[in-house]
Amino acid sequence: MKNMKPPLLLFIFISVSLEALPISVTGKNVDVYRPTDDFAVDCGSSNSSTVENRNWIGDAADRSDYSPIGKTHSSITTLASSSSPRVPGTAPYLTARLSRSEFAYTFHVTAGPIFVRLHFVPSDYPNFRRVDSFFSVKAAGCTLLHNFSASLFADYPPSAGFFSKEFGLSVGEDQILNITFTPTPGNSDAYAFVNGIEVVSMPESLYYNTVVDSTEGIKLAGQLAPYTLDTTKVLEAVKRLNVGGQFVGPADDTGMYRTWEADDEYVTSSYIGGLPVNTTIQLNYGEQVPDYTAPDPVYTTARTLGTDKRINLSYNLTWSVEVETNFYYLVRLHFCEFQIEIKEPLDRVFKIFIDSQLVEDHADVISWSGKGVPVYRDFAVALLHHSQKKRTNLSVALGALPYGSTLYSDAILNGLEIFKISAPDGNLVGLNPDSTPRASKALSRFSKAPKIAIVAGGTSAFTVVSLLAFFLYRRRNRAKDSTSSDGTSWWGPVSRSTTKSMKTQGSSLPLDLCRYFSLAEIRAATNNFDRVFIIGVGGFGNVYKGYVDGGATPVAIKRLNQGSQQGLHEFRTEIEMLSQLRHLHLVSLIGFCKDAGEMILVYDYMARGTLSDHLYNTDNPPLPWKQRLEICVGAAWGLHYLHSGAKHTIIHRDVKTTNILLNEKWVAKVSDFGLSKVGPTSESKTHVSTAVKGTFGYLDPEYYRRQRLTDKSDVYSFGVVLFEVLCARPAVSRMAPMEQISLAEWAQSCCKSGAIEEMVDPHLKGSIVPECLNKFCEIAMSCLQDEGTKRPSMNDVVWGLKFALQLQVSTELEVTDHMGVSVHNSDDNNHDVAPIRGNDSDGAFSTSDSDSGGWKSGWGAAMSTRRSNDVCDESTTSYDSKKLP
Ligand SMILES: *[C@@H]1O[C@H](CO)[C@@H](O)[C@H](O)[C@H]1NC(C)=O
Ligand SMILES: *[C@@H]1O[C@H](CO)[C@@H](O)[C@H](O)[C@H]1NC(C)=O
Ligand SMILES: *[C@@H]1O[C@H](CO)[C@@H](O)[C@H](O)[C@H]1NC(C)=O
Ligand SMILES: *[C@@H]1O[C@H](CO)[C@@H](O)[C@H](O)[C@H]1NC(C)=O
Ligand SMILES: *[C@@H]1O[C@H](CO)[C@@H](O)[C@H](O)[C@H]1NC(C)=O
Ligand SMILES: *[C@@H]1O[C@H](CO)[C@@H](O)[C@H](O)[C@H]1NC(C)=O
Ligand SMILES: *[C@@H]1O[C@H](CO)[C@@H](O)[C@H](O)[C@H]1NC(C)=O
Repeated sequence: MKNMKPPLLLFIFISVSLEALPISVTGKNVDVYRPTDDFAVDCGSSNSSTVENRNWIGDAADRSDYSPIGKTHSSITTLASSSSPRVPGTAPYLTARLSRSEFAYTFHVTAGPIFVRLHFVPSDYPNFRRVDSFFSVKAAGCTLLHNFSASLFADYPPSAGFFSKEFGLSVGEDQILNITFTPTPGNSDAYAFVNGIEVVSMPESLYYNTVVDSTEGIKLAGQLAPYTLDTTKVLEAVKRLNVGGQFVGPADDTGMYRTWEADDEYVTSSYIGGLPVNTTIQLNYGEQVPDYTAPDPVYTTARTLGTDKRINLSYNLTWSVEVETNFYYLVRLHFCEFQIEIKEPLDRVFKIFIDSQLVEDHADVISWSGKGVPVYRDFAVALLHHSQKKRTNLSVALGALPYGSTLYSDAILNGLEIFKISAPDGNLVGLNPDSTPRASKALSRFSKAPKIAIVAGGTSAFTVVSLLAFFLYRRRNRAKDSTSSDGTSWWGPVSRSTTKSMKTQGSSLPLDLCRYFSLAEIRAATNNFDRVFIIGVGGFGNVYKGYVDGGATPVAIKRLNQGSQQGLHEFRTEIEMLSQLRHLHLVSLIGFCKDAGEMILVYDYMARGTLSDHLYNTDNPPLPWKQRLEICVGAAWGLHYLHSGAKHTIIHRDVKTTNILLNEKWVAKVSDFGLSKVGPTSESKTHVSTAVKGTFGYLDPEYYRRQRLTDKSDVYSFGVVLFEVLCARPAVSRMAPMEQISLAEWAQSCCKSGAIEEMVDPHLKGSIVPECLNKFCEIAMSCLQDEGTKRPSMNDVVWGLKFALQLQVSTELEVTDHMGVSVHNSDDNNHDVAPIRGNDSDGAFSTSDSDSGGWKSGWGAAMSTRRSNDVCDESTTSYDSKKLP
C-alpha cells in the first residue's frame, strides 16, 4: 500500500461528559432552508402564540381562515392539563381538539414532499379519559396511524408526557393535504385528539429523489437488487441522532424544525467508543449534500471506536433502536472527517453492518467526500424475517479493518436517521404496545365461520366465485357511501357526522369464508408484482410475499399464469376446496382475486418455505431427525384430515415435499389443492376414472396403470416423501445410476436387502435410534405397496409415525438418563404420551377441529387449552422453537 504512514499517531479524543462540554450547539447553518409552506397549528386554541420565533396559530379563533367551518362540528376544544410537570407550558401543549367522530384538517400546499408532525399530550381531558384515545390518522392516501393509542404509546417506554410523530410524504398536483382523524369504530368511548399539527415543506431531494437513489437505487441490506424510494412511499421518522453530540432542538435545525437527539442511550456495544469533536472546522457542503441536510453540530461531533488500541479490533461499535417488524426501513448514516490525523484516503477505512448484515466493507469517508465535507449514505433494510416478533432492535454497527487495509483501525459516525417506510399498500400502520397482533384478527374470522357443505363440480365453484365477488362489491360500496364526506374546509377541522348504526357484522353467508381482493390491493401488497417479493416460482406462475391489512398480515400471493384453461380449473378447485377446509396441518386460503384476466390466490404466509427447501437447499442447516419426524407426523395428519375429516373424501393427488410447507414454528402444512378431487375411498369399491395427474416420481403405479384414483394414491406419494425425508434425496435423480433413478424403487430394494443405512442422509448418521429407523422404514415400505388396498390408511400412517417418534425420543431420554444429565424440559410432554393408540380417528378429529379455532391465535394457546384425553394427539408434535438447532 503506497504512502502508508507509521501507525504511531494517536487521536486526540475529547471524551468528556456532555454536560461538562461548554460548546454551543447552534451551528452556522441554522435556518439555511426556508420552507415554502410552513404551518404550525395550535389545535384547540383560540389565539396564536409565538414559541422560539415560531408562530403557532390557534384553530379555534373566531377569525376567518383558521376557524372551523360552521359551528356544528362535533369536535371540541379544551385546555390540556397534563399531570406531568415536564410538559412545556407553551403552544401547542396547552390546548387540544378532541372528538368521538371523524374530523379533518385541510391544508393547501405546494406539490412535493413535506413533513407532517403531529403533537400529542395524552392526558385526561374533561369527559375524555386518557386511556380511551384510539384513533386512526390518514393523509395523502396513507394510513399514518391506525387504532393508535396515545397513552399506550407514551407509556412504552415511559416518556415525558408529550411526544410528536413525524412523517414525510408527497403532496400531489391538486395541492391539497387532508389530515383526517377517525376514532376507532366499534368502541363508543374511543376518541381522536391532537394538540398540534405542523406541515412544513422539505427540500425536493432531501430524503426522496436523492442523487444516490436516482442513479443506482438505495443499497438494500442483504440483497443485490437496490431499493427505490419513490414518492408514493410515506416515511415515519423513528429516530434522529446527533451521534456523539448533544440534543439539537427544532429551532436549531436547518429550517425544517427537526429534532436531533443525543445518541448515548442507543449505544449498545460493550464499549462506547470515543467522542471527538472539532468546533473550529469550517464545514464545506457540496452539491450532493447541501447545507440544509443536517445542522452543523451533527457533523462536528462524532463517535469513534475509541482510544484503547487493544480493543478497537475486538468489537463493533453498535447502536440499536427498537422498531416494528414487517416493514422496510431507511437508514441514513451521516459522516464527516474532521480529526487532524485523518488526511487522505485509506487513513480510516471500516465496515458497516445493518441488522447484522454487511452493507459496506470499505467505508472511507475521506475518499467519499474529503476532509471537512459532510456526506451521508442511505441504506434500506427489510425487517421481514422476524415474523414472530412485533418489535425488534434494528442495529447499526461499525467494525474496524486490520492494519494493512487501513492506517487506523477505527471507524466514525456523526449522525444517524432511521425511517420506517410505508408498506407497498401505502400504510404505516403501527401496533400499539401490548396490543395483540392484528394479524390474528383477520384469521380468527375463519375459525369462527361455520363449516359448509362441499360444493362439487367446476360450474358451481364458478358460481361461488362470481356470487362472492358481487356480494363483496356491494358491501364495499355501501361502506364507501357511509364515509363519504359532507363538507370541505379551508384549513379548519371538518366534522363528519358518522352514522353510529354500524352495519351488522358477520352475515352467516358461507361466502364470508373467503375474502375477495381487488387487483389494486394485490398490486399494492406486492409493489406491483415487484421481483424483489418473489418467494417461489413454479409451472403455474410466481409466488410473492406481500402484506395486507395495512401491512400487518404477511401473506403468500400466488399469481397463476394468465389465459390457461388448465389454470382456471385449478384456480376454481383450489378456492372451492380450501375455503372449506380448516386444519392445523393444511395451509389456509385467505382469499383470492379474479380481475382483468388475473387469477390470484392469497394464503397464509409460511415463513420457513417448503420441506423440500430444508432437505436440499444447502443454505438451510440440515434438519435434525426428530424434527423431520415431527414434520412427517404433521403432514400425515393433514392428509388424514383430507381423506376422512371433511364431508367427502378429498384426494390431494399431488403430495410431494414441495407441497409441504412449514410455518415459523415448523408446523407442517399441506398445500396446493389445484389437482384435488372429491373421491371415494378404496374400501368403497368405487373410484374416480380420470386422466392421470400428479408429479413424476411420486405417482402411484396402480393409479397410473388403471387410471383409477383412490385415497391410497396419496398414501403412495406420501411413502415417497418419507423416504425423501430419510435420505434427503429427490424422488427422481436423473443423473444417478439406472437402479437409483427412482427413489421409491431404490429405497424398496435397499430395505429388502437390509442396506437402508447406506441411503440415510449422511447428516443423520448416528442420530437415528435403530428401532425408530426400522419402524419408519416399515411404514414407508407399506405405503409403497403395489396394491392400493394393501397400503395403510393415512390414519395408520399418523399413528405409525408417532410410534416411531416415541421410540426415538424415549431412547434418547434413556441415554441421557444413564449419563446422569437431565435434559427433560423441552420434551416433558412426551412423558405423558400413552404408548400407541389404535384407530382412534374420531378422537383425533375432535382435536383437529378445536385446533383450527385455536392455532391461529397462537400455537401455545391451542396447546394449553387442549383436553387431557387429547394429550396424545398433540404432545408429540410440539414444535418448540427452543429445540431447534
Ligand atoms: C389565549 O387564549 C387563552 C384562552 O384560550 C387565554 O387564557 C390566554 O390568555 C390567551 N392568550 C393571549 C396571548 O391572548
Ligand atoms: C487500534 O487503533 C490504533 C489507532 O487507530 C492502532 O494504532 C492500533 O494498531 C489498533 N489496534 C489493533 C489491535 O489493530
Ligand atoms: C479541526 O479541523 C481543523 C481543520 O481541518 C484542524 O486544523 C484542527 O486541528 C481540527 N481540530 C481538532 C481538535 O481536531
Ligand atoms: C461485527 O458484526 C458482524 C455482523 O454481526 C459480525 O459478523 C462480526 O463478527 C462482528 N465483529 C466483531 C469484532 O465482533
Ligand atoms: C432492544 O434492546 C433493549 C436494550 O438492549 C432491550 O431492553 C429490548 O427488550 C430490546 N427489544 C427487543 C424487541 O428485542
Ligand atoms: C385497538 O387497540 C387496542 C389496544 O391495543 C386493542 O385492544 C383493540 O382490540 C384494538 N381495536 C381494533 C379495532 O383493532
Ligand atoms: C380533502 O377533503 C376535501 C373535503 O373533505 C375533499 O373535497 C377533497 O377531495 C379531499 N382532497 C384530497 C386530496 O383528499
